[in-house]
Amino acid sequence: MSRSLQLGPDGRLVHLLSTEGLPAETLRHILDTADQFVSVNEREVKKVPLLRGRSLFNVFFENSTRTRTTFEIAAKRLSADVVNLNIGASSTAKGESLLDTVWNLQAMDADMFVVRHKEAGAPHLVARHVKPGVHVINAGDGRHAHPTQGLLDVYTIRHYKKDFSRLVVAIVGDILHSRVARSQIHALKTLGVPEVRVIGPRTLLPADVERLGVRVFHDMAAGLRGCDVVMTLRLQSERMSGPLLPSAGEFNKAYGLTPEKLAQASPDAIVMHPGPMNRGVEIDSSVADGGQSVIMPQVTFGIAVRMAVMAILAGNA
Ligand code: CP
Repeated sequence: MSRSLQLGPDGRLVHLLSTEGLPAETLRHILDTADQFVSVNEREVKKVPLLRGRSLFNVFFENSTRTRTTFEIAAKRLSADVVNLNIGASSTAKGESLLDTVWNLQAMDADMFVVRHKEAGAPHLVARHVKPGVHVINAGDGRHAHPTQGLLDVYTIRHYKKDFSRLVVAIVGDILHSRVARSQIHALKTLGVPEVRVIGPRTLLPADVERLGVRVFHDMAAGLRGCDVVMTLRLQSERMSGPLLPSAGEFNKAYGLTPEKLAQASPDAIVMHPGPMNRGVEIDSSVADGGQSVIMPQVTFGIAVRMAVMAILAGNA
């Protein structure tokens, strides 16, 4: 379903809703285009006119620090006009539906919508109901997908590790509720990463997780052994319907990334986290701020990756 909505008959990206079903050439086109925008972002004047005259609407029904802000920065660096809808102060509180909200913003000549919503499928619904020529980017829907986060993560891995063909990548923690993990796994597998591991307690792994092509570990030391990339995830309590763990402290003992546990990975392993971090729960500060951490570069690369996605959707890359 996502593929047919996402790609036009000529194979061009029309909407970005999920990394699932996107061909490797589309993913590589986004990553290669992001390389060019990293160079733009290193200039004194970090601006190009690719989206001049176009309007981007950030429509976030869930909180965000990184995604909403980097979309705004990215759009401004492409010279687009940016509107951040303040959902709390919008007519959503008066009962206006998601689609009515979008259609009203479309009537203000929106060219692109960036949508975050707690309901899985909300950006797909919007994509099915916008005018031809209007593009929708999923900025996170429920526990389903967060494609630009998955893409900026694979961009970061490519930057530090160069070649996907021999990598072992471990994703640790609350996979069950993580839209980021799903988007990462689909992108990593499509790009040819031979071994993706998920590490966590049974209660925080989807029952059919092996169907995603990953190796499952419940023991942290065994799962981290020899890894090139270690990606930690927070406990996404806002999406948990009941207690799935004895306590955050117990989780930290078994799955919190400490220097001792990280020592099981390759000596040159990189440590990643999509944010927001809960220090002392899924990751210790000494690791988050340590020499192997690339957590802040992930955020910075997010700007270039989101510039690439918008430029490609606009037909300018
Ligand atoms: N990684 C991520 O989606 O962060 P935000 O919730 O701050 O956007």
